Amino acid sequence: MTKKTIETLETELTSAITGAADIDALEQLRIRALGKKGAITDLMKTLGRMSPEERQTEGPLMNGLKTRIGEMIAARKTDLEAAALAARISEETLDVSLPVRPGPEGRIHPVSQVLDEICEIFADMGFAVAEGPDIEDDFHNFTALNMPPEHPARQMHDTFYLPAEEGGERMVLRTHTSPVQIRTMSSQKPPIRIIAPGRTYRSDSDATHTPMFHQVEGLVIDESTHMGHLKGCLEAFVSAFFEVDDVEMRFRPSYFPFTEPSAEVDIRCVFKDGELRVGEGDDWLEILGCGMVNPKVLEYCDLDPERYQGFAFGCGIDRLAMLKYGMNDLRAFFDSDLRWLRHYGFAALDIPTLGGGLSR
Ligand code: DAH
Repeated sequence: MTKKTIETLETELTSAITGAADIDALEQLRIRALGKKGAITDLMKTLGRMSPEERQTEGPLMNGLKTRIGEMIAARKTDLEAAALAARISEETLDVSLPVRPGPEGRIHPVSQVLDEICEIFADMGFAVAEGPDIEDDFHNFTALNMPPEHPARQMHDTFYLPAEEGGERMVLRTHTSPVQIRTMSSQKPPIRIIAPGRTYRSDSDATHTPMFHQVEGLVIDESTHMGHLKGCLEAFVSAFFEVDDVEMRFRPSYFPFTEPSAEVDIRCVFKDGELRVGEGDDWLEILGCGMVNPKVLEYCDLDPERYQGFAFGCGIDRLAMLKYGMNDLRAFFDSDLRWLRHYGFAALDIPTLGGGLSR
């Protein structure tokens, strides 16, 4: 009789275990079979009431059933756990190739944009980009540029001085990018062809001046470069930068201690409907200073002025950005106003190239 009961119970439990849909259902089943009041436990209790002979045959049968059911439940549990884990993993899959945001939100600041445009134009003419420190010594910022102490041109620079080091000189925040000329000529042999864009500082602030602003310096040194090359180079630059075929330029005689002769360059333009048109009209706009490198500067850099010569130029980048993109207050450049940046900024992936167009 017991054998029959055991078989029925085993068949029943086996199909219930295989059919258990999840771990909870399986646990309920385990309690119903092997728990304190479970079917198999109840069955085992009947052993106590049996005669020793009966017990000898029934005992192993019952124990066998208990073991098999226990193992079956454990195996099913492992399977269900593995299936639950697999389901969770596939449900929680992250597609890392999806963009975080629908589109890039950041904008390129007009100064960065113009800087990239300038580098692109000069790189095309074979210029390398050189750099120098923002905190300069007096020698590189002034003396070696033919502005010895007491030179009146120093006064025009509204220099920011750092506190003097003990027994030492006062360092300055560079007032122009021209000291990079000195650093380049002192560390490289001609031929030299570089531009040096960067931050510059002067104690000045109004709609067209900020205490920190940007300049780009240009320098060409070899044995035969002359003023004609300077003019050709700047003409190519201005027409590429303003994206106009013919830009009329005016080289006005001027004075800079580090160039001789020196000139300031104006471009023909007109303001029409609040917009600047380059290459037309009757107005002239000054955009940069330039000249042939003064032999004294070459001497400061240990270059023989009998052998080497060349030209240099310096230009305000912020001003070029204002002119090209129609912004009228320089201070807004450095206000970090997001609305301004969204309006005047450039798309991050629109990198200016000569082939694709500098500005779009
Ligand atoms: N360093 C001058 C300034 O900040 C600009 C300049 C003029 C640079 C003439 C030059 C140059 O290299 O030749 O006002």
